[in-house]
Amino acid sequence: MTEKWHEKKISRRSMLKMTGIGAAGAIIGASGFGGVMKVMSDEPLIKEDNASSINKYDFYNTHQPGIITPVQTHIYFASLTILFKDAKTLQNVLQLWTPMIVSLMNGEEITPSTNGYIPPIDTGEAIGLDARHCTVTVGISASLFNKIPELESKQPKELQDLPHFPKDQLDPAYTGGDICIQACADDPQVAFHAVRNLVRVASGKVEVHWAQAGFNSFPKGGGTPRNLFAFKDGTENPQITDKEDLKRVVWVQPGESKAWLTNGTYLAVRRIQMHLETWDRTAFHEQENTFGRHRDSGAPLGSKREFDQVDITAKDENGELLMPETSHVHLAKKVKARMLRRSYSYASGTMTKTGAHDAGLLFISFQKHPQQFIDIQNSFGRLDKLNEYITHRGSALFACFPGVEKGSYLGEALFK
Ligand code: HEM
Repeated sequence: MTEKWHEKKISRRSMLKMTGIGAAGAIIGASGFGGVMKVMSDEPLIKEDNASSINKYDFYNTHQPGIITPVQTHIYFASLTILFKDAKTLQNVLQLWTPMIVSLMNGEEITPSTNGYIPPIDTGEAIGLDARHCTVTVGISASLFNKIPELESKQPKELQDLPHFPKDQLDPAYTGGDICIQACADDPQVAFHAVRNLVRVASGKVEVHWAQAGFNSFPKGGGTPRNLFAFKDGTENPQITDKEDLKRVVWVQPGESKAWLTNGTYLAVRRIQMHLETWDRTAFHEQENTFGRHRDSGAPLGSKREFDQVDITAKDENGELLMPETSHVHLAKKVKARMLRRSYSYASGTMTKTGAHDAGLLFISFQKHPQQFIDIQNSFGRLDKLNEYITHRGSALFACFPGVEKGSYLGEALFK
């Protein structure tokens, strides 16, 4: 952790006027976490991106970090329940989180502790680590709008619970939630530390409904990581450098939804168990037919290289489709909808009833409209060969705020 601070002190009065953090301090301080609040309210801070931090991404941007950021090796994803019913408290929580997220992404302690009579303000397990490419992404769901009637007119009509899909076996313990925090980093402890501290500071206002850690391992020299079925996962995705394509696929454009969501996006998350035991008994040829790609190279069936164009109509010399009609990639490609996938594998012990691995994919996709996800999932329907080897256990949909300008805070436009 660097000792160097990049924060600008501004007068308490102007800070209160601008962000209301003082009010947040008063409210959340009452929940028994006086240490942070004292600092936040008596000595308000605007945190700035620290250009000298090592392995760091900037927080202030048109879009939130953690969406088109190159995928990190670890995620800690938390879905929170709110324990309040008013817009002001939501605003206060978001105001409180914003400078903390800047510190977390700088790889700095949230606030150094100087008072030995109160608990440390930062829980401390990231001390000595650098930023490790930490990103924090925050979103809100339809259930949040249901709980805060004042915000009713701000709910985008497309922000609804995802429909039930064929074969879904959703467990309420991994489904829904009012606010999501997606923390990603090239270190599991840095990702966990981010969520832990954000939840802790809002204690009494939010609680964790469900959470999931995940990982991705990258081949030496880079490239697409493999999922737990050993296939390269994430090959076909919009280029994160193609701004025009991202506007078409990922970023909500002016007039396309509620104004507060412009430059934001929708995050669909599915906790999908992968039945490793069944897969491991499946013939290699059948495994490749399931996805429609070669396992080792990642190339579409019949091609040589991973990024060779996918042609779902291509046939072999016998007139048979090279990529089976019920293969995962064929069905995904068949519909016009596109998305940005940013998933992580997970392994969380065993299923109590069966003793099978509780392992799979924490599937995460970003799209400017939930219908993109719905169309692709419906195309898989009951047909996808992959269905035999997976079960969707958890699900949620969140609208992720646009990025934050210096001096502002997450979700500010929602309160205008
Ligand atoms: C455990 C579940 C899943 C596994 C193991 C899985 C794995 C894969 C693999 C290996 C590929 C081919 C390589 C690539 O392009 O990344 C792929 C492609 C794809 N998957 Fe999945 N996937 C899963 C669930 C889903 C879900 C739930 C969706 C969306 C509803 C989805 C959407 C896509 C799309 C859009 C593609 C790209 C197809 C194209 O080439 O255009 N996948 N998936």
